[in-house]
Amino acid sequence: MGIYVITGGTTGIGAQVRKQLTEAGNEVFNIDYKDGDVCADLSTKEGRQKAIDAVKEKYPDGIDGLICNAGVGPTAPAAKIFALNFFASEQIAEGLRDLLKKKQGACVVTSSNSITNQSVRMDWVDMISNVMDEDRIMEYAKDIPPQLQPSAYSSSKRALARWVRRISPSWAYDGLRINAVAPGNTTTPMTQGLTDAQMDAALLIPIPTRYGRREFLDAEEIANGIVFLVSKKASGVNGIVMFVDGGIDALMRSEQV
Ligand SMILES: NC(=O)c1ccc[n+]([C@@H]2O[C@H](COP(=O)([O-])OP(=O)(O)OC[C@H]3O[C@@H](n4cnc5c(N)ncnc54)[C@H](O)[C@@H]3O)[C@@H](O)[C@H]2O)c1
Repeated sequence: MGIYVITGGTTGIGAQVRKQLTEAGNEVFNIDYKDGDVCADLSTKEGRQKAIDAVKEKYPDGIDGLICNAGVGPTAPAAKIFALNFFASEQIAEGLRDLLKKKQGACVVTSSNSITNQSVRMDWVDMISNVMDEDRIMEYAKDIPPQLQPSAYSSSKRALARWVRRISPSWAYDGLRINAVAPGNTTTPMTQGLTDAQMDAALLIPIPTRYGRREFLDAEEIANGIVFLVSKKASGVNGIVMFVDGGIDALMRSEQV
């Protein structure tokens, strides 16, 4: 079967993706700072380079798929959010693009359905995805106060989704596909440490497909979407942001397509 590389495959959504791909007979290589096949802190440039070098050494003949999934939530400092959620995904994808090209592979990144909510700061999205100067953005992010971390989170994921849509035509030119999955709130270690107030805020909008129940999605439901998009079954799909949020985005923005 195929060779797949994932970032953040140790817990949560990434662990479910690994499980599904492995059970289908594929080989999966996990880049993670905890219990990875290569252990690397992807919030640093050195960690990303270490991970890219390890994959290139192990799979010189190419890889079939790449899932850039490692990320932190809105409880992390803004600098960490920008570094891991945007720059790590972008640099790992570009760093392994040559290996994907050898097998006409596909890439999927994990964004978030918060990219369309009001916490997004378009000035930050522009700063990240237009300027793309990580050192300067890290300097700026140091001064972002903790109460704005939810905006840093949604903006980092919006910048990532925008980047995917922008570069997908050039990837297609090389026979490659790149798409994003935008999960709604999902039960994983990332969402386990929420305070009651954060949990109330997260569950403000009940999931339409569950008849309005106030609950989180399962990691398996998000993994189903990622595994589909990275597979050959999605051969006609490129440059999309697929919301796997039970219909919350449609409920909130039904007039946008
Ligand atoms: N859980 C949700 O509600 C939700 C909603 C939308 C989007 N997401 C996104 O889904 C992705 C997976 O998150 P999850 O919910 O499964 O959480 P998680 O914390 O279980 O998974 C994150 C993974 O990334 C790894 N990781 C964290 N920091 C790292 C670093 N510096 N270097 C390398 N690896 C690192 C972790 O070890 C873990 O395996 C993230 O990008 C997250 O932003 C999650």
